[in-house]
Amino acid sequence: MKKLILALAATAMMAGAAQAQSYPSRPISMIVPFAAGGPTDIIARIVGEHMSKSLGQQIVVENVAGAGGTTGITRAAQSKNDGYTIMMGHMGTHGAAPALYPNLKYDPAKDFEPIGMAAGTPILIVAKKDFPAKDLKEMMAYLKANSDKVNQAHAGIGAVSHMTCIMFNSQLGIKPTAVPYSGTGPALNDLVSGQVDYMCDQIVNLVQQVKAGAIKAYAIATPVRSPALPDLPTTIEAGMPDYQVTAWNAIFAPKDTPKEVVTALTTALNKALDDDATKGRLLELGGVLPTKDERGGKWLGEFVVKEVARWTPVLKDAPK
Ligand code: MLT
Repeated sequence: MKKLILALAATAMMAGAAQAQSYPSRPISMIVPFAAGGPTDIIARIVGEHMSKSLGQQIVVENVAGAGGTTGITRAAQSKNDGYTIMMGHMGTHGAAPALYPNLKYDPAKDFEPIGMAAGTPILIVAKKDFPAKDLKEMMAYLKANSDKVNQAHAGIGAVSHMTCIMFNSQLGIKPTAVPYSGTGPALNDLVSGQVDYMCDQIVNLVQQVKAGAIKAYAIATPVRSPALPDLPTTIEAGMPDYQVTAWNAIFAPKDTPKEVVTALTTALNKALDDDATKGRLLELGGVLPTKDERGGKWLGEFVVKEVARWTPVLKDAPK
């Protein structure tokens, strides 16, 4: 009997190893839990393009929007753990969500195999181009005086654009009308057309429109300016020093994805982050690349635990 069990275990191990050796043998779906064209989608497509090359199979981005990104991440978490469905999560889906969704169907720290950090994304305070304020101080004064008349776009409860503007609004003591979208890609379209007044969003979504003068950027919420927008003052320079926040986007696979598959995906992500063209695209959009120490699943797994602990007290009484 013992020999039979050993034989079966050996067969199973060899089958797993064989599967991993052949991985990937077909295209991989990467679920982006927001609409196409937004920051998470932009980052997924940039790193996914190079990952496809090094893996030898196409990474196909699948936009599954809803509920601040938790719809798509729930779908990804419940998908087969064979390495053919992965996801681009972020500070909202894997940091804020537990505080804002009491019935969240996944645990960011337990229900995934972290693959690695893709890019940090500093937050910008932006407004429609004819917003009546020439700088952040005037914007703050206008918002305080007209809080009941202005509307602020975001990508759903728990999205980065939602949680980072909760911080912004609470520091100003204002409660604007919130206008939810399926992602900050579509929200940006309405900001450009003047349908909404302002937004707190990730730099990679905004650089081109800011440079084109299609929207107004008032400040970047980091201690130093971004090389992608060197003329944009920091919130410290612009008069709101306490508003400091950078989001992040990272790749995850479902829990219990085979280790060899996780290794193949992490290796492919690291190769993308080492590729000059890929790095250049992320940097020119204001993305912040993870350092070598910040790469890989172990670091990301520990980081997610810290992020959930950081954001839960900040958001627990936030407007749902
Ligand atoms: C997006 O890609 O639309 C954003 O990451 C959504 C958000 O604000 O979290």
